[in-house]
Amino acid sequence: MSATTSPILQTTLAKRFRDARRQTLELCTPLTPEDMMVQSCPEASPAKWHLAHTTWFFESFVLREFLPDYRLFNADFSWLFNSYYESFSPFPEKKLRASFARPALDEVLAYREHVDAAMEQLFERDAEPEALRRIELGANHEEQHQELLLTDILNAFFTNPLRPKYREQGSEGAREHVRPLHLQQFAGGLREAGHTGESFCFDNELPRHRVWLEPFALANRLVTCGEFAEFIADGGYSKPELWLSAGWAAVNANGWRAPLYWTERDGAWSVFTLRGELPLEQIASTPVSQVSHYEADAYARWVGKRLPTEFEWEAAAEGQPVEGNLLDSGNLMPVPVGEVRDAKCYGDCWVWTSSAYLGYPGFRPLDGTLGEYNGKFMSGQMVLRGGSCVTPAGHIRATYRNFFSPETRWQFSGIRLAS
Ligand SMILES: [Fe+2]
Repeated sequence: MSATTSPILQTTLAKRFRDARRQTLELCTPLTPEDMMVQSCPEASPAKWHLAHTTWFFESFVLREFLPDYRLFNADFSWLFNSYYESFSPFPEKKLRASFARPALDEVLAYREHVDAAMEQLFERDAEPEALRRIELGANHEEQHQELLLTDILNAFFTNPLRPKYREQGSEGAREHVRPLHLQQFAGGLREAGHTGESFCFDNELPRHRVWLEPFALANRLVTCGEFAEFIADGGYSKPELWLSAGWAAVNANGWRAPLYWTERDGAWSVFTLRGELPLEQIASTPVSQVSHYEADAYARWVGKRLPTEFEWEAAAEGQPVEGNLLDSGNLMPVPVGEVRDAKCYGDCWVWTSSAYLGYPGFRPLDGTLGEYNGKFMSGQMVLRGGSCVTPAGHIRATYRNFFSPETRWQFSGIRLAS
């Protein structure tokens, strides 16, 4: 170990690394090589690309710099699997990822093994503190791509006319279990927001800073599919007065009349999930998912409420245990709200907030190429909080800031009301 690196930290990180790498492969076990080639919407990437790109991250930002005599697996991979790091190398257009029939899946898996073996060599040495910081970032990056892999496969299977199931369905709740929605009051005042302490966080969670909150109320649970169906039945998608101007434009430009994976046949709605196509009445008590910020905002206006700010959500979540329907529960879809006894801030669906994704006062991106990880997206995006049914439990925390453009619908994004 170098003087400033603790052996315990290095051992802990090695385990974190191995767990993340194994979990990504496990998520691919229900998939065929052909499944892993599909890129069914511009936002998504093929599973094979996720396998390669997460590997590229460790090769590019850890091994090349910190493992002496590291041998690149394939020099072309260092630009081919770059996602968006302009200062690292040129990279192919995102929409071309479905054309990567080569390298073959076997070669991508061999790339993973090559990099994993080199990482083990690094763990046997005195890894520098900066190398360990990059490894921890890389493990968190891989966990983000685990969530994306599943959301992208859901979209791929939805666009397949056969509507295949990623996993066989289990017991989804019926409508009678719905826990009444009520808004819990919170005192306002001067609070702090942002990460504190020594544990890992992304640069966009810093620095911790003061925020002023007026007294507010936050719903004890997410809005359900059944409740959202009432918005649809009331003509919510055809009432411009409920929508932000850009949202109304998106409704008309895209022909939206329901959340992304809802299909109406003979007057009955069904919802496509990772466990196949399910009748709406069967999952009416599960949180509505795959809605844009615009739909969340319009729904909140329809019921006379609003979306929470990211700081209201964080104030409510601070100090709460990270419990809820996350990836580790294995449900792979939102679960009925009635099954959860106490209000939980985490899981099921990311909560759209009314906060624009901006740097906190004094925000400083990471040095070098990795400064492109989060900072350069701080324009035109909204913050989401709380994680989803496909977020690894060890990945999420009260200060975690996810972000997407407001028209985004392919993520597990839902609605928590505030007033
Ligand atoms: Fe990435």
